[in-house]
Amino acid sequence: MISRKKFLYSSAPLLTVPLFLEQCGTHPRLPGPDGADPIQNARSNGMSDPILIAINVGITAPNSHNTQPWKFRIISPLEMILYVDEKRILPVTDPPVRQVHISQGTFLELLSIGASQLGYSAKIELFPEGTYPSIEPGKKPVAHVQLVKDASAPDSLYSMVAERHTNRAEYEGPMISPAEIEKVEADAGAGYTKRVAIYGEDMKPYLPLMNSAMELETMTYRLSDETRGWFRFSDREIQEKRDGLGLPDQGVTGFTRWMIETFFLSREPEKFHDPANNKLFLERYKKKIDSARALYYWSTSSNTIVDWVKTGRDYARFQLALMKAGLRMHPLSQILQEFPEMDDLRAKFEKISGVRAPGKIQMIVRIGRSDYKYFTPRRSAKDMIV
Ligand SMILES: Cc1cc2nc3c(=O)[nH]c(=O)nc-3n(C[C@H](O)[C@H](O)[C@H](O)COP(=O)(O)O)c2cc1C
Repeated sequence: MISRKKFLYSSAPLLTVPLFLEQCGTHPRLPGPDGADPIQNARSNGMSDPILIAINVGITAPNSHNTQPWKFRIISPLEMILYVDEKRILPVTDPPVRQVHISQGTFLELLSIGASQLGYSAKIELFPEGTYPSIEPGKKPVAHVQLVKDASAPDSLYSMVAERHTNRAEYEGPMISPAEIEKVEADAGAGYTKRVAIYGEDMKPYLPLMNSAMELETMTYRLSDETRGWFRFSDREIQEKRDGLGLPDQGVTGFTRWMIETFFLSREPEKFHDPANNKLFLERYKKKIDSARALYYWSTSSNTIVDWVKTGRDYARFQLALMKAGLRMHPLSQILQEFPEMDDLRAKFEKISGVRAPGKIQMIVRIGRSDYKYFTPRRSAKDMIV
């Protein structure tokens, strides 16, 4: 069975051109006309209030599992309140709701960059009614946002918003140099988090642990079953739901994608958790990890809900600056996650990195070069307004 699958996964016989293009899944990120540029798209969809247009930029942000865990209350054409959408969290793999709050920060940073493009600065007050325990996301606001006219030059990172994407392909080409990272950091600007790059041989102790972490998550039914719920199994489902994960964002397209979606992978638990599928996925994953041209992490000296949101802002800026340098990145969050099954591996990782409680590595990514490009869809911003 495995060798037959392996043959099919790695072979690429000729497909008809229309079928091939369909399997490449090249759709714009946002619904409606002008779906690549979020400001154009907002205007084409009839949004004229600056806050709505800025929100439309914000929702292009990276966010865990593409759950888009955001709800907005619009106060005025220049003002809104952001909440976690508690129906779009990942309680099994993200029990403290940490990554969901990092995803609030990425949204706020993109919104802020969008606002500057419109001639406003975004005054952001975090947790205006105070912070809340992890068990109560969605009840109190994450942020109050007020747009204020600002004559200063727009944030140049807007030029990379339409291009930004998470890239999970196998990376190619030369290793990343410290000079390249220094340039990206200069473009991203000073942030809140401590940022560390790991180059060349120094990556060696980290890579096997990150592989083991993915293996653990994949092979533990209750953990990978959460991903099953957020997995989209065809182009039609991706375009209808406009959220979650799918094969094309994992770098699988064309004939290989068609074979997997047609014969091997579906929402039925037996198929999704099929050991042969898992084995092939993990083999591919190891190749991707081993193709890292550098690693990079963001850490904080405490581990509070505010740290999480601020990390998200730094992460989003860095990714945009990285895109500008022609580089790509892929987060490897498994080893950082707080469910009990990960305790041992996480402790080993903390020992190697030297970052442990009360501090925390909030995000870690591999960085490299790749020509692969795919834009994950977003739901309409209007559907996120409460
Ligand atoms: C907090 C956070 C954690 C993430 N963790 C992972 C991860 O472990 N593996 C991965 O492949 N992508 C991870 N991502 C990337 C998201 O899956 C990605 O941003 C989302 O699917 C939207 O795709 P895009 O970034 O291409 O727009 C993470 C993103 C965020 C913000």
